Amino acid sequence: MGKATEDLRKEHDSILHVLKLLDHMTAVPSDEDARFQKYEQVVYFLQIFADKCHHGKEEDYLFPELVSKGIAAENGPIGVMLQEHRTGRDYIAAMSQAVEARARLDFEAAAAGYADLLRKHIDKENQVLFVLADQLISDAQQDTMFEQFEHFEESVIGHGIHEQLHTMIHGWQEDLEHHL
Ligand SMILES: [Fe+2]
Ligand SMILES: [Fe+2]
Repeated sequence: MGKATEDLRKEHDSILHVLKLLDHMTAVPSDEDARFQKYEQVVYFLQIFADKCHHGKEEDYLFPELVSKGIAAENGPIGVMLQEHRTGRDYIAAMSQAVEARARLDFEAAAAGYADLLRKHIDKENQVLFVLADQLISDAQQDTMFEQFEHFEESVIGHGIHEQLHTMIHGWQEDLEHHL
């Protein structure tokens, strides 16, 4: 496994972990203010970490590299991945609007749609696209791509926000353990 795909796989694990916490959040009793505060935080995490940072790395670096190695840009696996990123953005927008409107059922329907989409999407990337990437992109090229990832991450997230996201996830985790 190259360094770039390894980094993206680790991010998949973080996203899947948050989706599991989100499942619990929707299921456990909570007062409405606390519930919507957590939902708003989840939307923030998904916008910044899952979409801007993770999908940004794939769209700006990994996918173009695969296209340069001969994988079709539109028809085929990359086209499907891009379409799923767009659908994911629509779900996040719907979740964000539902938080604004304090519409719990709307939020939870959009969140369930998002979680289902992303779990399947991540599975396809882990099982198919990244396996292909490891065959086509050399370790040396992946090292370079990983450095580009680091710069990109610093520009879209930066240290302060990274810490903030960790603190948020930690808070959700504690809440969950409270209910077990
Ligand atoms: Fe993706
Ligand atoms: Fe991904």
